[in-house]
This record gives sequence, structure tokens and C-alpha cells, in this order.
Amino acid sequence: MKIKIMTRVILTASLSSFFTSNAIAADTATANMEEARGLVKQFAGQLKPELKKAMKAGGPVAAVEFCHAKAPVIAKNLADKSGWNVSRVSLKARGAMATPDVWETAVLNKFNEKKAAGEPVKTMEFSEVTHEAGQKTFRYMKAIGTAEVCLTCHGTNVAEPIKQAIAKYYPQDNAMGFKKGDIRGAFSFSKVVK
Ligand code: HEC
Repeated sequence: MKIKIMTRVILTASLSSFFTSNAIAADTATANMEEARGLVKQFAGQLKPELKKAMKAGGPVAAVEFCHAKAPVIAKNLADKSGWNVSRVSLKARGAMATPDVWETAVLNKFNEKKAAGEPVKTMEFSEVTHEAGQKTFRYMKAIGTAEVCLTCHGTNVAEPIKQAIAKYYPQDNAMGFKKGDIRGAFSFSKVVK
């Protein structure tokens, strides 16, 4: 009788701790997800208005210089402030840092499949806890669509002076040929978690 009760107590205790730790894991995942979404807002919220301003002020060639100089700085400031790794990646990359790793490539391919299946690009995101080099890492990606304004520098028919400005900084550029609505790339954020 006594033994039976003991087992029950132990079972209940371990079950409840199982549920508690799962609840904590879920809470942490939600918190990380929300942090990542906040970073998207900050990143896009700085990049887009500044790009538009640069286009208006100096035209697209000057705006290429702006993107070249400013986009990496915005990413770095955000990373320093938040403690996350902050980047943008693409299957057809322009910037040297924008080449996706294996995990990012898989997610970008998945995003393209989802788009082909009719899912809206605007809300596409994916997160996962991975184990890299022995470290548990929370990874998050959010798709970036191609708007009309992006075609000036990423479209199928980029004007010659803009092409030249891009070639100057990005001799290996692969980020033209996009159409409105295409997935241009994605924000990709990660941080080591316990
Ligand atoms: C004035 C030209 C210009 C316009 C317009 C422009 N971009 Fe870019 N884009 C660039 C340059 C230059 C880079 C490389 C920046 C760097 O070195 O980090 C870039 C990089 C990117 C990247 C990072 C991945 C990669 O391939 O390097 C993404 C994503 C991106 N652009 C999306 C967009 C979107 C979305 C729009 C429209 C809202 C847009 N761009 C409009 C010039 C432009």
C-alpha cells in the first residue's frame, strides 16, 4: 500500500515537472519569437524610409551608395543593441553577407514553395531551435517581398547607370531579375539560448 502511494507521488511529481518545463519552453519560444518580430519592425522601419528618402534626395544611383554604406550599419547597430545575430539573406544575393547557409537555404526554398501554393508572402515566417557547434540556437526568418520601388535596383530591367553603380560595389551581384511580388529574400536572426 505504502509503495503504491509512493509511486503515485513520484509519478505525479515527475509528470507535473514535465508539464512545467514544457510550459516554460513554450513561453521562452514565444518570447524569442516576439523579440525577433520586434527586430524585423526595427530593421525594416529604419531601412525602408531611409531608402525612400535617399531615392528622393539623390536618385537611385545615390541610393545604391546609401544601401551599400548604410544597410550593414543598421544591421550591426541592431545586433549590438539586441545581442542577436542580425542579417538579410537571399537565394540570389547581392551583399557579401547575404549568402544563406544550409538552414537558411532550406527555409527560403520552403517560403518559395508556400508562395507557389498561394500563401501570402507578407506573413511568412519560420522559427526553430537548432543545435549548432554544440550550442542551442533560436533561429528566425521572415520573408521579404518585392515591391514596385525595389525593381529599380532588383528588377528585370535595371537602368544602365544603376547597373554600373551596383557593379562597382558588387561585382558578383546576383540580385536582379526579380518581379513584383517575388520573395526577394528574408530577414534572418538568431541567438544562442539555454
Ligand atoms: C537604390 C537601389 C536599391 C533599391 C531601390 C532597393 N535595393 Fe535592396 N539592395 C540594394 C543594395 C546596394 C543592396 C546591398 C546592401 C548591402 O551591401 O548590404 C541591397 C540588398 C538587399 C537585400 C539583402 C540581400 C542581398 O541580396 O544582399 C534585400 C533583402 C533587399 N535589398 C531587398 C530590397 C527590397 C525589398 C527593396 C524594396 C523595398 C529594395 N531592396 C530596394 C539596392 C537597392
